[in-house]
Amino acid sequence: MKNYRHTIIIMTLVTLAFLFFTPTTVTGSYSKTTNIIPIPVSVEHRDGFFVFRPSVRVIAEKDAETEASKLIDILAPAMGYRLKLASKARPKAKAIKLALDEQLLHLGDEGYILDVSAEQILIRAKQTAGLFYGIQSLLQLLPASIFSKTEVNDINWKVPCLKITDYPRFQWRSLLVDPARHFIPVNDVKKFLNGMAMLKFNRLQMHLTDNIGWRIEIKKYPNLTKLASNRDRSGGKGGFYTQEEIRELVRYAEKRHITIVPEIEMPFHAGAAINAYPYIGINPARVEGMPLDKQWAALGGLLAPRPETVGFMQDVLAEVIELFGSRFIHIGGDEANLKLWENDPEMQTQMKQLGCNDAHELHSWFIKQMDTFLTENNRRLLGWDEILQGGLAPGATVMSWRGIQGGITAANAGHDVVMAPTSHTYFDYYQSSPENEPLAIGGLIPLEKVYQYDPIPKAITPEKAIHVLGVQGQLWGEYISTRKHLEYMAYPRAIALAEIGWSKKQLKNYGNFVTRLRHHLKRLQAMGINYRQLD
Ligand code: ACM
Repeated sequence: MKNYRHTIIIMTLVTLAFLFFTPTTVTGSYSKTTNIIPIPVSVEHRDGFFVFRPSVRVIAEKDAETEASKLIDILAPAMGYRLKLASKARPKAKAIKLALDEQLLHLGDEGYILDVSAEQILIRAKQTAGLFYGIQSLLQLLPASIFSKTEVNDINWKVPCLKITDYPRFQWRSLLVDPARHFIPVNDVKKFLNGMAMLKFNRLQMHLTDNIGWRIEIKKYPNLTKLASNRDRSGGKGGFYTQEEIRELVRYAEKRHITIVPEIEMPFHAGAAINAYPYIGINPARVEGMPLDKQWAALGGLLAPRPETVGFMQDVLAEVIELFGSRFIHIGGDEANLKLWENDPEMQTQMKQLGCNDAHELHSWFIKQMDTFLTENNRRLLGWDEILQGGLAPGATVMSWRGIQGGITAANAGHDVVMAPTSHTYFDYYQSSPENEPLAIGGLIPLEKVYQYDPIPKAITPEKAIHVLGVQGQLWGEYISTRKHLEYMAYPRAIALAEIGWSKKQLKNYGNFVTRLRHHLKRLQAMGINYRQLD
């Protein structure tokens, strides 16, 4: 009897162990996972490994060749050899195959299937972006030193056999950088894009203009860069991107399936533009003869929404549209001190003429002029949530930063929104107690707080949740003046945000995330990207 009971217990244990360790989809379970960040939708584990050797061929038909070449380029420095690209596999030879397949509709435009057996690695997707993301996951199955820029010896490059099916939760997975406050050189932006690509981010918002500086060449208004670009927040040297450099950055980002979203601030945060062209500011006569760097402050950095100002900003947008492929153009719209308009006789007359009841309505009128212009040019206006005040422009998408209410209101009204609240996504805030951190703007957003964020608030009705395009993390630049410091503020918090933007909500688990995060930090180390150490 006793023996019999033992047998039953042992059999039960064996059965449980079998269930536990048998290859299964990991959805909702962490018994065995990869170190991939963001965590994929599903992973089926199998026995064995695919081992890399110089004889492995990368097989791609024409439409997948570009992505295949990127894989070869990334692997080469650490492996010390370049895999050969071919359009057909040789019999019995090991291969990595990349293929586009229009049938894979359920994967969407960014999803992929990564299938690893001992003989072959197969990445399939509906679009090239999916192939690119499949490659990112494949790289994360290799040791972290695959990201090294120099050859790594004494290592067995192999990946476990498995099948991953993966696609993003949100279409907008973004970070914001702020070269207006402290200029960010082209090469630093490129390096930042490299770090984003491996996390499957697909947008970088660039805050190109503010009171303190104007960072993008506009041919029609040369004073913007001649007079308004040569300072930064710390009083150091400023700078600006020529149109050629902008094109180069846009191309560099596109190769990584990242769209650069330009932000041109109006009607506030426009001091640098007013500096260069005082006629677009309120009451320009008041500052005649004043030193340039005093003018914008004296005018409050606020544009006057006269017809010539509208024309000026539309001219600027016309050149911006030519340079950026992004369908969304961000026009700022935040923090305007509307008292300056209310108290200004010229603006009072303007409000009467336009039939505006108050300054909010004048603000809204101004934004609508930009919305109409962008819509006519087949682009979409994006603005901070203040653009809701006084009536939202018909085509506008709202970026909710002053908490989540702007996003809720806009989504429930049928407008698209991007969630970027100060509560969870301001990575210029402190990551731990200020006494332990370099000087920051204020606030406190530790890593775990970022990880707990869910971009879809309960107050958005289920049928309207589709309007939440995704999330964005903000790296405002007032206190960030070097690349290393930018990276320190971004990582590891942006890694948590990447998982929020990509992974299924049910798969989120902080403990499991931190385990994978430790591996990701090794990858950053191999790439020479700075980060804040974990506590
Ligand atoms: C903002 O932080 N003013 C959008």
